[in-house]
Amino acid sequence: MGLLDGKVGLVVGVANDRSYAWHIAKEIYAHGGTCAFAHIPGDKNARRTQKAAEKIVDNPVLYECDAGSDENLDALFENYEKDHDRMDFLVHSIAYADREWLQMGMFAKTPRQAYLDAIDISSYTLAAMTNRAKPLMMKNGGGSVMAMSYYGSEKVVLGYNVMGVAKACLEATTRYLAAELGQDGIRVNTISGGYLRTLASSAVAGTNELEELAAQKAPLRRTTEGSDVGKTAVYLASDLSSGVTGENIYVDCGVNILGA
Ligand SMILES: NC(=O)c1ccc[n+]([C@@H]2O[C@H](COP(=O)([O-])OP(=O)(O)OC[C@H]3O[C@@H](n4cnc5c(N)ncnc54)[C@H](O)[C@@H]3O)[C@@H](O)[C@H]2O)c1
Repeated sequence: MGLLDGKVGLVVGVANDRSYAWHIAKEIYAHGGTCAFAHIPGDKNARRTQKAAEKIVDNPVLYECDAGSDENLDALFENYEKDHDRMDFLVHSIAYADREWLQMGMFAKTPRQAYLDAIDISSYTLAAMTNRAKPLMMKNGGGSVMAMSYYGSEKVVLGYNVMGVAKACLEATTRYLAAELGQDGIRVNTISGGYLRTLASSAVAGTNELEELAAQKAPLRRTTEGSDVGKTAVYLASDLSSGVTGENIYVDCGVNILGA
């Protein structure tokens, strides 16, 4: 018997088989759950996500959505509802900031629009998606929403810059959503993942040092693997976390507890 037997949901953010979202979906299937996938529009993106999802499940269900568009978000949840009669979990694993501003010494220079874009795609979209997921989740008494955060929300990680601000906003958004939607049986949490080499993380300057630091100094003396985060996502999607909401769970092999 799997922890997620009978549970179905939506995973947003599989770009390829290195994405955190891919590892989450893989563990969801390994524990008996099923999911649909949403990717950014475009044939190339569709092919990339399809290829990655096919490594997990035959004939994956894919939808496209630019999370920066309300019309796209509406269409995503409408299309999902046409094909599914329930949503037990929603995985938000997307982020965006123009890489020009993710360089050392560039934070103060971040232009207004670049700053707002980072907050919009990386943080606001969690509220926007959760609001659209709510009626679907309530059909079956509630559900579990989770998003991906990073340590740069709390402490300065040089080069992470405006993305750190967006992650602080994401974590606060999580708490406000959790407080408001708990009465509907909807739990909302973030997973703060350790550094993983992905398309998104390659946009941040200085990540090689982060990887080295984790390998040498993390309490577990290794870097975080996608499956570490995937297994925590299974916990959050399952009834094992029935009393957990509004939390930020570190899955970083302990890096965040270190002082220096
Ligand atoms: N890789 C890491 O070290 C790390 C650590 C902690 C947290 N995270 C977070 O994990 C999440 C996933 O990132 P990842 O590292 O797996 O990288 P990734 O590049 O594989 O995934 C990022 C996803 O965001 C999607 N995206 C960007 N803009 C979008 C938009 N407008 N509409 C819809 N989708 C959009 C991309 O298409 C991609 O699928 C992000 O929130 C990231 O900040 C990553």
